[in-house]
Amino acid sequence: MNILGIETSCDETSAAVLLDGRIGSNVISSQRCHTSFGGVVPELASREHERTIVSIVNSAVTEANITKNELDCIAATSGPGLIGAVMVGLCFAEGMAFALGIPFVPVNHIEAHMFSAFIPESPEHKSPEGPFISLTVSGGHTLLSLVREDLSYDVIGKTLDDAAGEAFDKTGKMLGLAYPAGPVIDRLAASGNPHFHAFPRALTSSSQTSRSYRGNFDFSFSGLKTSVQTWLQKHTAEFIQTHLHDIAASVQYAIVSVLTEKAVAAARHFRTDAISVAGGVSANSALRTAMQEACRHHGIRLYIPGTVYSTDNAAMIASLAALMLSKGTVRKNNYDVAPFASFAAGAIKASLK
Ligand code: KG4
Ligand code: ZN
Repeated sequence: MNILGIETSCDETSAAVLLDGRIGSNVISSQRCHTSFGGVVPELASREHERTIVSIVNSAVTEANITKNELDCIAATSGPGLIGAVMVGLCFAEGMAFALGIPFVPVNHIEAHMFSAFIPESPEHKSPEGPFISLTVSGGHTLLSLVREDLSYDVIGKTLDDAAGEAFDKTGKMLGLAYPAGPVIDRLAASGNPHFHAFPRALTSSSQTSRSYRGNFDFSFSGLKTSVQTWLQKHTAEFIQTHLHDIAASVQYAIVSVLTEKAVAAARHFRTDAISVAGGVSANSALRTAMQEACRHHGIRLYIPGTVYSTDNAAMIASLAALMLSKGTVRKNNYDVAPFASFAAGAIKASLK
């Protein structure tokens, strides 16, 4: 089965083709128009998707070495995301599927991250078997879930305020770094001292008694943001510039150690022997190293997609569509799917009912 996936939920326009379970193409165009605004401007994002979607889809089909008439199905992100941006990809995909007379599959963007351990990255790719813990860390979401093979899952923890990606982006902004600051902090931190300053790690064993902490899989990053702000106010611009790498490494350490500790604690609590880490923040090199070390120590199998599949991409959309089709969890639709803004509104479990 040949599946075209389309992703436009934020500031990446992406199209990918899955050819009988292998990736034929995964074309990603990142919007540059937001840089001077320090964040994604929704209206500009929609307009940019509109401008590029035809050429991105054409490139994906051409790179996969097929014609549009050889497509069996089209899948697209139907939410959550910037509604205007989602609508560009969703309407385009539904219109194209309608014109070709083939099925359309709506995909939840966050679930696509959550199941990205199933993206067939290479012919040797091994997907998780049995239940696993998923740590999904993106710009707007931070979720810990217990995922089962039938694609059902329970969210066992989530952020009470900022997402992990937001923590990187907002603290980075305070440091004068360009948006998105996550990759910039990652680069700066590579030559910094993570123990230069101990920023707070909320809701972990370091901040609570072990009794109240046990079994609490929620996250909170707003205290870190405030702490960074207060700390920066106490130091001169010159001192901050001199120690930029150390500050970046210390902020990164605070975020990464919380994520790692919670994911491993969840795997042990639910007695699963596998963890998958996905979403834009899973591209972070310190998080990858920390998760590898922690999982090796506890005998847990770790699944982290290659960085191109960590941040937003359409291969994960086509891949989850393929999985949903194989498990029979796809609703019949008449090309009339409405976009949704919140994660829960379009969750697989809801569509199974
Ligand atoms: O999944 P994603 O590409 O888009 C959303 O669904 O939100 O995640 C974007 C987030 C941004 O907050 C960005 O700063 C963060 O992922 N990110 C990183 C890295 N690469 C992207 N954070 C830390 N280190 C990175 N290398
Ligand atoms: Zn994403």
